[in-house]
Parts: sequence; structure tokens; C-alpha cells
Amino acid sequence: APLLNPAVLALDWLLGSWESDEPGEGSFPTVPPFRYSETLHFTHVGQPVINFMFNAFHTESKKPMHRECGFIRLQPGTNKVAFIIAQNSGLVEIEEGELTGQQVSLQTHALARTSFSKEPHVQQIHREFRLRGDGRLEQTVSMATSDQPLTQHLHITYRRSS
Ligand code: HEM
Repeated sequence: APLLNPAVLALDWLLGSWESDEPGEGSFPTVPPFRYSETLHFTHVGQPVINFMFNAFHTESKKPMHRECGFIRLQPGTNKVAFIIAQNSGLVEIEEGELTGQQVSLQTHALARTSFSKEPHVQQIHREFRLRGDGRLEQTVSMATSDQPLTQHLHITYRRSS
């Protein structure tokens, strides 16, 4: 395996595979509360970039649901972090924010969608990843849409699976 590029060393705590340890909680004012499962994979090929894939699925039926993949970059010499993201819903997005220890806080910097994507349209996403003291990874996502203000949509914790 290639050596981890020193430019992304500060993100080494994300590397590997993660699986939700208990169902994630989905919410939004316009959506009945729901539960889901998700696997995360963070890999690298020696470039100054981390690659990721997030695959959510229905906890009972295992039916595939939301999927995202993309890349993570750090601005050299700073704690500024960027996630470059493609979502299966037809959304592409750049989220930027800060890396502080083993926590990343992000918000939408740029967003585009397919011309035929369904309403309501997402306008803004806030997202946080945090490695907890107990070794679990936690993700929280809030979003604003064309008809709702910024409100939590997802909360989930993961256990490292490799
Ligand atoms: C609904 C966006 C991640 C499951 C929605 C809606 C939007 C949205 C805009 C419609 C809200 C409305 O009708 O007012 C996003 C974004 C995500 C994301 C931007 C990532 C950043 C996920 C994930 C799951 C999920 C990981 C896990 C399975 C659902 C479900 C609904 C929903 C079940 C309600 C049914 C539906 O509209 O399909 N999401 N979502 N979402 N989302 Fe997400």
C-alpha cells in the first residue's frame, strides 16, 4: 500500500471502513422520522487526497438508499478542509470548513443539481464528523431547503469495521 501523503496526515483518524453500530436517526419537518444503516469507506492512493464512499441502506430490508462519494482535501499549512461530493440524488457539492483535532465541521460552499431534480431543493448543508473518546465516529447533518430553514436531517454513529 502507498504511504499516506503527509498533506493529509491530519485526517488519518478517518481512514478505513466504518459501519453504523445502531440505526441512524433521520428527521426533517416534512418527513416522518426514519432509521437507516450506513457504511463509510475512507481510502487513499498516496495522493494528497482522501477518497470516500458512503452507502446508506434500509436497516431491515438492506435496500440501498442514499449514496455519496468524493474526495477530501486540506489547504496546505492550514486547518481548512474541503469535501468534494457527488450524491446519487443528483446533487454535487463542495463543503468547506475546519479540521480541529479529530473533528471536521463543514458547510456548503458550492452546490449544483440536475436540471430535473425534484423539489424541494437543498440550499445549504451543515455537517460534522467527530471521533469520540470511545472510538466511535459520529456524523450529524443539517440542511436548509427551498421551504425549510436549517434543520437536522441525520444523526448516526459508526464502529470501525476495518
Ligand atoms: C428526504 C436531502 C442524506 C434519507 C430528503 C429530502 C431532501 C434530502 C432534500 C426531501 C425533504 C423534503 O421533502 O422536505 C438529503 C441530503 C443528504 C441526505 C442533502 C446528504 C447530505 C440522506 C441519507 C439518508 C436519507 C444518508 C439515509 C437513508 C432520506 C429519507 C427521506 C429524505 C428516507 C424522506 C423520503 C424521501 O424524500 O425520499 N433528503 N438527504 N437522506 N432523506 Fe435525505
